[in-house]
Amino acid sequence: MPRVITIASGKGGVGKTTVTANLGIALTRLGYHVCLVDADVAMANLSLLLGMHSSPITLHDVLLGEASVQDALYEGPEGVKFIPSGLSLENYRRVDTERLGSVVQSIAPMFDYVLLDAPAGIEKNVLSSLAAAEEVLLVTQPTSASIADVLKIKITTQRLGAKPIGVVLNFVLREKGEVSEDEVSKMLELPVLGIIPFDDEVRRSFMQEKVSPVVVRKPNAPASLAFAKAALRVAGKPVESVAQEKAGLIQSLLNSFRSLFGKPR
Ligand SMILES: Nc1ncnc2c1ncn2[C@@H]1O[C@H](COP(=O)(O)OP(=O)(O)OP(=O)(O)O)[C@@H](O)[C@H]1O
Ligand SMILES: [Mg+2]
Repeated sequence: MPRVITIASGKGGVGKTTVTANLGIALTRLGYHVCLVDADVAMANLSLLLGMHSSPITLHDVLLGEASVQDALYEGPEGVKFIPSGLSLENYRRVDTERLGSVVQSIAPMFDYVLLDAPAGIEKNVLSSLAAAEEVLLVTQPTSASIADVLKIKITTQRLGAKPIGVVLNFVLREKGEVSEDEVSKMLELPVLGIIPFDDEVRRSFMQEKVSPVVVRKPNAPASLAFAKAALRVAGKPVESVAQEKAGLIQSLLNSFRSLFGKPR
């Protein structure tokens, strides 16, 4: 059964697009077929973050009934598929996101996961993104203001008949004054599925000449390892396997050194 999950936050700039791209690629690495949809039809930037610049046909054209969804489907890093939104303001004004749900449902059977990158706020296009999915993953910073906004999104999600499945805490610094993981979980009555540290590599990945998400550019950066864990949690798999994979990699490197140079004393 495909899982359609909207990534939403209420508050702007907390990392929805970053989470969509990196979590999507992390799920692809687990062997799932994943499609990312840029549901931020006004301020599209998912494709830029994926490092993909040329997408002549977009979600705008599909929502306007001027192109088929298949024509707006592109391949991104590591085989993740994505549907970009258009940059034209004129088309944006004409677009009606009420059709988003049916567009998404038409491609869902081709994938294990469809992740929708929602816009900020709680306006009509946000409601369309929440209503287009069966599940919603909330992104928040560990601050009261961000959590208050995400609570509104949680309540709205439930009113629209979708299921909030959990929270991703982003920009975590583990500093005094931050709301702890347990407190967030209690306040929102949801499990914390990801704890993504503040990591300058995330921002740097976006500033390279050739942009690529941090999980691709720096797979061992703290944020990348955290995205790998979050993908396991979202998929309902045991999280130890990230550590095991790393231990396995180190062991196999040691073994090859040993076979080359003999047993170290
Ligand atoms: N864990 C992190 N560590 C450091 N920088 C981060 C992290 N997560 C996101 N950022 C940076 O924060 C900025 C905002 O991230 P992003 O665009 O993903 O937020 P957003 O919620 O999608 O914003 P909007 O509401 O405008 O759509 C970007 O410059 C991104 O590189
Ligand atoms: Mg965004």
